[in-house]
Amino acid sequence: LAAGDISAGKEISASCAACHGVDGNSPADVYPKLAGQHASYLYKQLVEFKNGKRANDIMSPMVAALSEEDMANLAAYYASKESTPGAVSEDSLDLGQQIYRGGNSESGVPACMACHGPNGSGMPAAKWPKLSAQYQAYTEAQLHAFANGERQNDPNGMMRDIASKMTEEEIKAVSAYVSGL
Ligand code: HEM
Ligand code: HEM
Repeated sequence: LAAGDISAGKEISASCAACHGVDGNSPADVYPKLAGQHASYLYKQLVEFKNGKRANDIMSPMVAALSEEDMANLAAYYASKESTPGAVSEDSLDLGQQIYRGGNSESGVPACMACHGPNGSGMPAAKWPKLSAQYQAYTEAQLHAFANGERQNDPNGMMRDIASKMTEEEIKAVSAYVSGL
């Protein structure tokens, strides 16, 4: 796939702005921030909303008419923007940080940073998403969706396996923690 064209992506993004913001900083926390997310990961998600591998009633009709080129351009546009981390309350910091950096050896949850990086910035070459600065509510919702099998597009079920071993308290804490990274 060729690198996307940022200005062509910007034009199409007008139809996404109501939910994801003009620059990918979504106005409400049920909608993920797309700003600064890796183009490789964004492109994978758009293709999978289109082919049904990632099921979502809102997003699938949004991508139905997009070509592969449109999706590559949109991915390039949002990747070129920046997101700002939010403030995290003290009470979720300790547990969130512990899970993110060390996992939970008793229940078999690995350290998130092994794949999502010490700063939450992910790994573009591997299509491992950036988690930093994402809204807590969205991250929590995705961990629940992996845990209950609603979201099935993670390679080899790696996120489904991890999320299903997490307690509710751990999910909340780590989601708060990464929103501030
Ligand atoms: C998720 C892109 C339009 C609502 C996503 C994701 C991408 C994306 C890449 C996944 C983000 C991630 O995995 O971190 C786009 C593009 C749009 C568009 C390129 C325009 C063509 C919209 C609109 C709405 C919307 C108009 C609201 C009516 C959502 C929601 C999710 C989402 C609710 C989360 C889905 C889930 O829980 O799995 N979008 N979006 N999007 N988007 Fe959009
Ligand atoms: C995706 C959280 C550990 C690999 C995600 C997403 C979240 C997340 C919230 C979805 C991001 C979005 O929709 O924008 C976490 C947490 C972890 C953890 C809290 C630790 C408890 C790991 C580890 C790996 C990994 C250890 C690698 C072995 C991935 C991959 C995806 C992903 C490949 C993308 C799935 C796709 O292509 O749709 N993770 N993760 N994660 N994570 Fe993790």
